[in-house]
Amino acid sequence: MMTESPAKALLDWYDVSRRDLPWRAHPGAAANPYHVWLSEVMLQQTTVAAVAPRFQRFLDRWPTVSDLAAAPDEDVMAEWAGLGYYARARNLLKCARVVAADHSGQFPSTETELATLPGIGGYTAAAVAAIAFGQNATPVDGNIERVTARLFHINTPLPAAKPEIKARAVSITPPDRAGDFAQAMMDLGATICLPRQPRCLACPIQAFCQAHKAGIAADLPKKAPKKIKPLRQGRAYWLERADGQVLLRRRKPKGLLGAMVELPSFGWSDDEAPASIAKLATEWIAVTPPVTHVFTHFRLELSVFCGRIHDAAPPEDCFWRPVDQLGDIGLPSVMQKAAKAAIMGD
Ligand code: ADE
Repeated sequence: MMTESPAKALLDWYDVSRRDLPWRAHPGAAANPYHVWLSEVMLQQTTVAAVAPRFQRFLDRWPTVSDLAAAPDEDVMAEWAGLGYYARARNLLKCARVVAADHSGQFPSTETELATLPGIGGYTAAAVAAIAFGQNATPVDGNIERVTARLFHINTPLPAAKPEIKARAVSITPPDRAGDFAQAMMDLGATICLPRQPRCLACPIQAFCQAHKAGIAADLPKKAPKKIKPLRQGRAYWLERADGQVLLRRRKPKGLLGAMVELPSFGWSDDEAPASIAKLATEWIAVTPPVTHVFTHFRLELSVFCGRIHDAAPPEDCFWRPVDQLGDIGLPSVMQKAAKAAIMGD
């Protein structure tokens, strides 16, 4: 017998099959808005597998939003290292400080109020309102997008299909369990309604799925062809001092990898001249091949040059750090790759 609605079928499935994730409240228990907000920000553009251990470390270090608000910027940036998209970490701190200062450390509960906070966009406002506060809101992430496009056989390619997908997702959201519904859709997308090989036989809402009925679930959602990302090329300098310290630089506060620590690097994200670093060593040896990294809007090929020096005063924004402490300083992923290449190629 067919259950009466996709939401009911999905929630019945969720009640027994939900993933046990560290930010989820146990069934029946009240959710902690700080945990929900933190997890949602971390999960933007980063996988559940990558976030889970990092989420717990973050909470151990800053158990409440007010603790986070009081943390020095550098500590938070370093703890964020490797999760990528560092503007999220800067906004995270801004948001924590507004919640601590203007809302007595309590997150507001409505989608509209949440959306006024720094770094909280439409998706996050809806996710926190629904999951943390039980409000009737419908966040739409990549998983929910895919499930919905299939359920309603939406042929329009993304991103043009977004408004239609949102409207359809809203139309099946159960007002009394909107948070569980959103997370059930996410779990379904992550475990069953998979991008390339959906496991339709295991799907609790197969009977409602129009794409499945038409035999084309795996072909949806359609996507407009991607533009290929332009290539940028830059250089990074690995300068090692006789006592085993390496030269690092803190990047400018704004812009790409803003405020993160790097091997001094040039030519790919700003126009600064490399001269002050390049002249510190008399011989530079290039590591081959260059390190590659894909950013949101471009691909980067970073040539890493290794040099040695007896001693020198660090140039502006630069400082020396022992090589064996690089793991603690919070290098962004591209710079971790560059450091590894320098150490291996040395
Ligand atoms: N992705 C984003 N938010 C999530 C959540 N609350 N549960 C599972 N996956 C998610």
